[in-house]
Amino acid sequence: MSSHKVPSTARVTVQTLRAMTSRSERITMVTAYDSTFARMLDEGGADVILVGDSLGMVVQGQDTTLPVTLDEMIYHCRAVARGSKRAHLVGDMPFMSYQVSPEEAMRNAGRLMAEGGVHSVKIEGGAEMADTVRRLVGAGIPVMGHVGLTPQSVHAMGGFKVQGKREEDAQRVLSDAKAIADAGAYAVVLEGVPSQLASRITAELPVPTIGIGAGPHCDGQVLVCYDLLGLTPERVPKFVRKYESFFERGTAAMARYREHVREGAFPAAAESFGKIPERSTPASGDAIQAAAVPGSEPVQG
Ligand code: KIV
Repeated sequence: MSSHKVPSTARVTVQTLRAMTSRSERITMVTAYDSTFARMLDEGGADVILVGDSLGMVVQGQDTTLPVTLDEMIYHCRAVARGSKRAHLVGDMPFMSYQVSPEEAMRNAGRLMAEGGVHSVKIEGGAEMADTVRRLVGAGIPVMGHVGLTPQSVHAMGGFKVQGKREEDAQRVLSDAKAIADAGAYAVVLEGVPSQLASRITAELPVPTIGIGAGPHCDGQVLVCYDLLGLTPERVPKFVRKYESFFERGTAAMARYREHVREGAFPAAAESFGKIPERSTPASGDAIQAAAVPGSEPVQG
């Protein structure tokens, strides 16, 4: 085990997160969309893994999160749930899966939990979502709120823009966060707000705040895993810190692999089954016959 790997311990719960905040221990949250990434990020010590509807942009290549469906979210949640052992798993409720009525929100959040295997759900919005949050929490569904820059309202906001810069807007973001916390949310994501405002909301809220583009004084931080791992070369917002350059490393690895294939350097004997015969011309058919010889070697190394 490498030194930076966090040993797996008991599953992080809503109560763990509350206790961390009361000890002034910051919460590390990250998105994941599949099992392998979930395992990697979980073993790296993520406290919370969000199956974000940002998958619409980074996995599906859409311009916004709006086209993501509930069935797609459930599919990705199930994959993440299979890969993670320790982190608390949050499933994002996609656009229009909770805005129409609290009843629909209940039904859809229930599916995300029961079929997707996540431990809580996240919904965007402020005071107008308070009733829905109350109903979900009353039904035993832990809810994470999300205020400030809410990507599902991108068209209403006129783009992905910092929210709460003017005093009256700051007041609105503050009262939205309070309304969601009062309705029973166990934590609130603050996205794209000035640091002073995030700091003030964090001081006034009875539940943990998780910031993204909200400065250093939140109770925790969240980043999109593709951003922090450097998989989104064209899309690096100011608030992102790139901890890796997976895109560049991936294209370089691909180029090396291509080179090896073209020069016949891959696969070598150690990567092949049976004895390697002399190279035959495609016309002789020897290679196909050799591959058809039955054997008992396991395929997995
Ligand atoms: O969908 C997402 O990834 C999110 C985070 C950016 C908070 O909502």
